[in-house]
Amino acid sequence: MKKLVYLDNAATTKISNAAREAVLPYLSESYGNPSSIYSIGREAKKAVENARAVVVEAIGATPGEVYFTSGGTESDNWAIKSAALYGKNKGKHIISTAIEHPAVINTLKSLEKNGYKVTILGVNQHGQIDLNELRDAIRNDTVLITVMTANNEIGTILPIAEIGAIARERGVLFHTDAVQAAGHIPLSVSDMNVDMMSLSGHKFGGMKGTGVLYVKKGVRLPPFIHGGGQERSLRSGTENVIGIAALAAALSDAASRLPLTDVVRKRDRLIAGLLKIPRSHLTGDPVNRLPGIASFTFECVEGESVLLLLDGCGVCASSGSACSSASLDPSHVLLAIGLPHEIAHGSLRLSLSEDNTDEDIDYVLEKLPGIIAKLRDMSPLWHE
Ligand SMILES: Cc1ncc(COP(=O)(O)O)c(C=O)c1O
Repeated sequence: MKKLVYLDNAATTKISNAAREAVLPYLSESYGNPSSIYSIGREAKKAVENARAVVVEAIGATPGEVYFTSGGTESDNWAIKSAALYGKNKGKHIISTAIEHPAVINTLKSLEKNGYKVTILGVNQHGQIDLNELRDAIRNDTVLITVMTANNEIGTILPIAEIGAIARERGVLFHTDAVQAAGHIPLSVSDMNVDMMSLSGHKFGGMKGTGVLYVKKGVRLPPFIHGGGQERSLRSGTENVIGIAALAAALSDAASRLPLTDVVRKRDRLIAGLLKIPRSHLTGDPVNRLPGIASFTFECVEGESVLLLLDGCGVCASSGSACSSASLDPSHVLLAIGLPHEIAHGSLRLSLSEDNTDEDIDYVLEKLPGIIAKLRDMSPLWHE
């Protein structure tokens, strides 16, 4: 079999054993609609409610605060658009950061077209915002602050509890996109002082197309999807029973294994080894970073070319450098941390899971320096 070293767990993860086992009954005998009153319908309903209780426990919420969605993108859209509507009598100002995921950025852009004003906070070279700048940005008409818990490209973890405390003190709703953090670092909605939090099942061993929006009791968001009244009439549509069962099992399993000490050790081996390559740089916060994310720039190479050559060796990785949207612009995150375009083009993200072995790390440390050297040899820009 062809060698496969999967180092793109921030893009998606393999379905965990816990999730796979949890879905089996709903793939065969318990296939009823959770809204039906006969026994197989009631079994499906029970699966959804048990899963909700598991998620409540995993994030330190209280019952009634967890809603299932179709993923991180939907949860972000719901939180932001509904909070904007909810607060519109108070004002139309929202605060966010320059390193959010497109699920947040493009939702904010759509609100701007409808008369909302958005203040985007810049970040320093590590991807951290300045809390004083946040304090200064809050206005009487600010209705929402949305700041991600951890960044998907550079792994920086932001001080969510402190941001939440500022928001609370000033009476502003606070949403966090915790899609990359869930299952990787401990999350407690009360410690984090959040009013809303987005999660995505496929980033921690659940299935693609599944997510959660946590909404603190007392925050009365308007319905997001109208229909038959599922999810307490806020998010209608027949529940994705299989996906929900998988998400809950995966989250609880992942949370039970924190902290990811051994993943951090392997990540740090990878970082130390790759920084030996001349003119290579770590991106993101060197200390406050997700356990699994090792992200770099290599001068005078194209990230896309590195990915192709790594793929040729069976290594799956990703680059923030371009092309997902057919544009050649480098990632907004890398530009926000102050990298010039030409350096941002040479980015590489390796994201680990518990499945990665020390042999995987050795293999990348053996292959990657040669790949970078080969590409540099072909580059007119490269001088030793
Ligand atoms: C930080 C962040 N937010 C949101 C999303 C979107 O989540 P989903 O793929 O579940 O729609 C992602 C996915 O990469 C992400 O990394």
